[in-house]
Amino acid sequence: MSTLIKGGRIITAADDYVGDVYVDGERISMIGESLDVDADRVVDASGKYVLPGCVDPHTHLDMPFGGTVTIDDVTSGQTAAAFGGTTCHVDFCIQTPGQSFADALSDWHAKREGKQLIDMGYHIAVTDLRDGGSLEELAELPAQGITSYKLFMAYKGALMVDDETLFRTMEVAAETGALVMVHAENGDAIDVLVKQALAAGNTAPHYHALTRPPETEGEATNRAIQLARVAGAPLYVVHVSCREAVEPIARAREQGWDVWGETCTQYFFIDYTYLERPDFEGAKYVYTPPPRAIENQDVLWHAVRSDILSAISTDHCAFLWDGQKSIGRDDFSKIPNGGPGLENRLHMIHEFGVRTGRISLNRMVELLATNPAKLFGLYPRKGTIAPGSDADIVIFDPDKRHLITADTQHSRTDYNLYEGTEVTGSPEIVFLRGNVLVEGGELVAEPGVGEFVERAAFGQELLPAATR
Ligand code: URP
Ligand code: ZN
Ligand code: ZN
Repeated sequence: MSTLIKGGRIITAADDYVGDVYVDGERISMIGESLDVDADRVVDASGKYVLPGCVDPHTHLDMPFGGTVTIDDVTSGQTAAAFGGTTCHVDFCIQTPGQSFADALSDWHAKREGKQLIDMGYHIAVTDLRDGGSLEELAELPAQGITSYKLFMAYKGALMVDDETLFRTMEVAAETGALVMVHAENGDAIDVLVKQALAAGNTAPHYHALTRPPETEGEATNRAIQLARVAGAPLYVVHVSCREAVEPIARAREQGWDVWGETCTQYFFIDYTYLERPDFEGAKYVYTPPPRAIENQDVLWHAVRSDILSAISTDHCAFLWDGQKSIGRDDFSKIPNGGPGLENRLHMIHEFGVRTGRISLNRMVELLATNPAKLFGLYPRKGTIAPGSDADIVIFDPDKRHLITADTQHSRTDYNLYEGTEVTGSPEIVFLRGNVLVEGGELVAEPGVGEFVERAAFGQELLPAATR
């Protein structure tokens, strides 16, 4: 199957020009000002943007967490992703304490096999190096295409690791070329604050934020940065939400240290006051780190504009409000932490980042596609429009109006963080390796079209597979 995409405005992290893209099979084979070539299908993209498929480096599909399991499995989550112009993501394979990494991976591969609509990889989330996985086993994972190690510095009694585990993992990463990712919050201090709040009878959703103050995020971010320096490992700080965490990352990057950070769509739009909404509605916004004071939103826009932060993910970790979040109706600490967003990242960042002039189109592509692909060993197969790259392409109509609402979304959850927001600009056709996933508002692909991607080591390129 070949496709000729004609006359679109091709936008990568570096370029912006009108031209034709010829897709032969699964890959982009030619780009030119006006290609005169036969194709099975010709798509008129005049007046449209031709973007690389977006890459989401941080999602949680089919994950047991907070006494329940995230409501989106691989198929429903990836359907939402495809409608939002995301064609590849990296999810988390979470080691159950006591489990070997091989067993954890076999459990998580079973969740995705035969169910994928888009391409995906796994980060390994290390929870236990004493009775479960060993350092030696951890060192073997990059050879299997698992080239990032995730550690939670919070969620005491569940996913949290101590500093020894964090540091030993960093030492392994320094040897193997893996990227270390941290959820940076001081879990011990938060645990004390949560117990004190509950003892005082403070059970409402907004105590989620009051017991996780920004200083606990700033402290852990700085601790992770300094430990990564000692170990000699590259570090990626996930879901940065506030000035206190942005500052140590800015300082590290000024010094030229191997430190990167992401924020997530929701931190630009949802502030602390959402948690105070009555009738338990605040529970919809219980994710971690919590929504912050509104002044942090400008700090984050500045950080993504000035390359203090290098990527925007969704941290899609969806639960039903009615039936899952409600587990914590009488105790905020029991509300499963997480929010949806896989479908709306491109919509929201285009509308409020690009259309307001906060960031350029090129920077949007860099934050949503190119940098995640580069940092997580997917580039140049993913994250750009270039000859040889996978034909993961979004034909984006910059004039198409779209109402964001739970009524029409593709996630299985029963609410949307951005309910009622109208945006101008939406994906029209979404291709994955030359296959049409979404067109005319319909899903036209079947589960199974997506593949698992073995990623390259940190700093290495992932070249097109010669056999495809
Ligand atoms: O609240 C969140 N973010 N849930 C997902 C797990 C995590 O911390 O990323
Ligand atoms: Zn986290
Ligand atoms: Zn997460």
